[in-house]
Amino acid sequence: MNITEDIKRQILSRTDIVEIVGEAIDLRQKGRNFVGLCPFHNDTHPSMNVNRDLGIYKCFACGAGGDSISFLMNYHRLSYIESMQLLAKRAGIVIPDDSYEKKDKGQASKIEQALNTISAAAVFFHRFLETPPGSIARSFYTKRGFTDSQIKEFMLGYSPDSWDSTINELKKQGFTETALDDAGLIVRNEANTSYYDRFRNRAMFPIQDYLGKVIAFGARQLNPDDKMGKYINSPQTIVYDKSQSLYGLFQAKNDIRSRKFAILVEGYADVISMHQAGFKNTIASSGTALTKEQLDLLYRYCKKIYIAYDSDTAGISAAERALELAKEKGFEVMIVRLPDGEDPDSIVQKHGNKLMNTFLDHAQPFLNFKIDLLEKSGALSTPSGKSEAVRKIIRIISSIPDRLQHDEYIRQLSSLMQISETQLKQVYNEKLVQEKKTRQKQTSKLQSNAIDERKEDEKDNVKTNDRNSKQKSKSFDLLNEEMVLLRIALTDSAAHNLLKDRFEFVKEKFISDDGKRLMSVVLSQSSELLLNNLLHNDEISEEDKDFFTQLSMNEEHPSIQWSRFRNNMPENDLIRFIQDLLYRLEQIQIDNQKEKIGIQQFNVPVERQLELVKKIKELDEKLIKLKKFYEIQ
Ligand code: CTP
Ligand code: MN
Repeated sequence: MNITEDIKRQILSRTDIVEIVGEAIDLRQKGRNFVGLCPFHNDTHPSMNVNRDLGIYKCFACGAGGDSISFLMNYHRLSYIESMQLLAKRAGIVIPDDSYEKKDKGQASKIEQALNTISAAAVFFHRFLETPPGSIARSFYTKRGFTDSQIKEFMLGYSPDSWDSTINELKKQGFTETALDDAGLIVRNEANTSYYDRFRNRAMFPIQDYLGKVIAFGARQLNPDDKMGKYINSPQTIVYDKSQSLYGLFQAKNDIRSRKFAILVEGYADVISMHQAGFKNTIASSGTALTKEQLDLLYRYCKKIYIAYDSDTAGISAAERALELAKEKGFEVMIVRLPDGEDPDSIVQKHGNKLMNTFLDHAQPFLNFKIDLLEKSGALSTPSGKSEAVRKIIRIISSIPDRLQHDEYIRQLSSLMQISETQLKQVYNEKLVQEKKTRQKQTSKLQSNAIDERKEDEKDNVKTNDRNSKQKSKSFDLLNEEMVLLRIALTDSAAHNLLKDRFEFVKEKFISDDGKRLMSVVLSQSSELLLNNLLHNDEISEEDKDFFTQLSMNEEHPSIQWSRFRNNMPENDLIRFIQDLLYRLEQIQIDNQKEKIGIQQFNVPVERQLELVKKIKELDEKLIKLKKFYEIQ
């Protein structure tokens, strides 16, 4: 597909990168940039910088950087074309190209093909729901109280009661056996001689990623005689890792953001019923115990979770485990206690949202929940049981990343369990010492492999980030003046064009090799969409790209003029500013030459010395001329 420059410009000019990145991570304004926790590495201090005017992002810790297109490509694993299509859609721009679909199918990457296949399957299942055989699933959904709008929003469907209908349909649409396999839609027989549809005669729940892209399916049994169990889920594929996706997040993310908390439930049906009842900030870990990766994902949207799992023993122990992981991540956690035999789905379907709200209002903070459970299990009735219980709770408290909270929780624990704070503090300190020891043990193990591993462990995060940034972005040797010129050539189209046209910039004006090379690259491009074009140019090395984003985003300003320049310098001042920098570079060049001559003077015969003195004079004159030249301009 060939997206014309004109359309690309339209798309990018109507795209706000702060919005694009801001949907994935929390951003707050800091100076010229927006900053947040980088989603591309395990960031603890906000290292991700986003600049709205330049349309780029840059993580100063891990080095990840680019524009809106790159962000979609890297964060959501979309292709270049898909990213453009998505941005176009958001910007309300129609990409007038009718030939790319077919051409693209053959060229698309394995991942793209798998994704295309899955989404075609989702459409097929969704439409198949409306056919006569679909009535079995339709009546199931009706019985479950799902409205048409929920069915639509969650793209619910029905998979045919057949061994090959899905395969045949998708093949007819042009998808290959390999793509069907990669998509997790087929199962091979043991001898691997044939294959058949994985999902047969089931209510289909498409699992979407955060962007709404279908990446897998959960398939519920409709016929009680179905021997395959209540749920069949897509296997792990190149596009689906169940430990990394949250069911309903796409539909819930905005509400999670605005309400500042998420409700975590167990199942697909729970999510749908909860959304229908107005709890649109509900998500599920579905098909797996909650994982650290899922919590990382959720942490981008909120810092508080209500866990509303089933009230059976399996549900309670799952909630305990989820709670521990969530505390470790830094979430505030509340546990919703539901009556025996109920799940969020059954509550809202039978009793509506009012009752659910009451349960939410009475949710227990994590300490109360833990103690409640321990009490009921009888663990607190013996001194040793009580002691063990306290240690367990303190272990959770000490895992909370924000140390300031530890004291507060210990205070609460003290009053809830009637144990003195001093005693609890003692256990807590023992715990810390113990942890430190294990950490040290691990460290010394690592030491044999990497000697400075331990130092890194002891350093704080900021320093670790610094270290990473040096590792990731090769530092180029540029003069300050070169850096400033390069920066304005990159980020200001007026300056870019002045350098090209008015100053007829040639790379010899630069002194360093890196500077010469980078400036030639920058000035060989058109000033329009410069950064975007550079970032997506395959001929430019990753290191150079990295340097360009880093330089454009840099908050430091090497001169007073530069800081003035930032506030939209009028053209005359801009010309002055450039003249000044170019003149200084000439000055440095001439100084360098003079220095060379000066050194030569000592070990040459007298007549040669005179020649050299004359040369120096010439250079001085040249400099005066240049000064005039730059002033007259
Ligand atoms: N699950 C699964 N595989 C199973 C059973 C359950 O993947 N064999 C997952 C599903 O995501 C399911 C969730 O665990 O939605 C909760 O399971 P369960 O409570 O048994 O199902 P419900 O979602 O409550 O389904 P329903 O209300 O239709 O019985
Ligand atoms: Mn249920």
